[in-house]
Amino acid sequence: TWNMKNFVADQVERVRNEVGDKKVLLALSGGVDSSVVAALLIKAIGKQLVCVHVNHGLMRKGESEDVVEVFRNQLDANLIYVDASERFLSKLDGVSDPEEKRKIIGNEFIVVFDEEANKLDGIDYLAQGTIYPDIVESGTKTAKVVKSHHNVGGLPEDMKFKLIEPLYQLFKDEVRACGLELGLPEHMVFRQPFPGPGLGVRCLGAITKERLEAVRESDAILREEFAKYGLDKKVWQYFTVVPDFKSVGVKNHERSFDYPVILRAVNTVDAMTATIELLDWEVLLKVTDRIVKEVPNVNRVLYDLTPKPTGTIEWE
Ligand code: XMP
Repeated sequence: TWNMKNFVADQVERVRNEVGDKKVLLALSGGVDSSVVAALLIKAIGKQLVCVHVNHGLMRKGESEDVVEVFRNQLDANLIYVDASERFLSKLDGVSDPEEKRKIIGNEFIVVFDEEANKLDGIDYLAQGTIYPDIVESGTKTAKVVKSHHNVGGLPEDMKFKLIEPLYQLFKDEVRACGLELGLPEHMVFRQPFPGPGLGVRCLGAITKERLEAVRESDAILREEFAKYGLDKKVWQYFTVVPDFKSVGVKNHERSFDYPVILRAVNTVDAMTATIELLDWEVLLKVTDRIVKEVPNVNRVLYDLTPKPTGTIEWE
């Protein structure tokens, strides 16, 4: 019979047979798919799996630290942590065009990952968190490109490795069940979608450290409050955006000239269309109050009421 326990046992055996005593490389972003592949391969081949986590400096607050905690400390993985924040930020310096930003982040990821791969010896295999919808969607790419989505972790096909894609038959909900079966923490298995270019596409226009921090801190507050109100299990995706203009306000009895934070909270089935969550005023006011008090360089909070279409879910 097909069940998740048997699926895991089956894949573990397949991977062991295929890999033997060779090594496998994996770009571990900390997203659901790469995390589940990592857990599966750790079970199958232990430290023959080399995980590389590239922190591009555009991760959410605490996210890279969480990857290190779960995989290195709890699962005893062979994990290489690369802090490439400064590299990414300097490549992005002064770049304001959304597509240009996406390309730079995608390309730089490949360069950094490639450098790490070249430092390692005896790697024969590359593991990827490809899942069934990835295969189906890339087979029928008829839709006009609205934005160049990429998965940080989607690597060029000319790499010299043999591919291992143990999740390619699974739908997303099955991938999550597989993660739970493998003992991954729930917060990792049920995390909301996060774009490959990360906070880079939520810090609108040319990224500055000041505004990037405002995005990161406000996002952390929003996530915390959503968890308190039980909205983290209800709303499909929620995050904050910081635009590149300022407005006049008053803070501590003085004139302030600071950035606004835009809240976004949407529900969707397939991300092609989306509706906004009808948030309670109480939640909106609580989040607003915390953000203007706790996040430096911010003096206003706005809620984006736009469905997709006409807005996309992300702002860039
Ligand atoms: P949009 O903004 O196009 O987003 O309505 C639809 C969904 O895709 C996510 N998204 C991305 N995911 N790489 C990804 O893996 C990307 O480059 C990317 N850009 C957007 C977005 O967060 C939403 O869930």
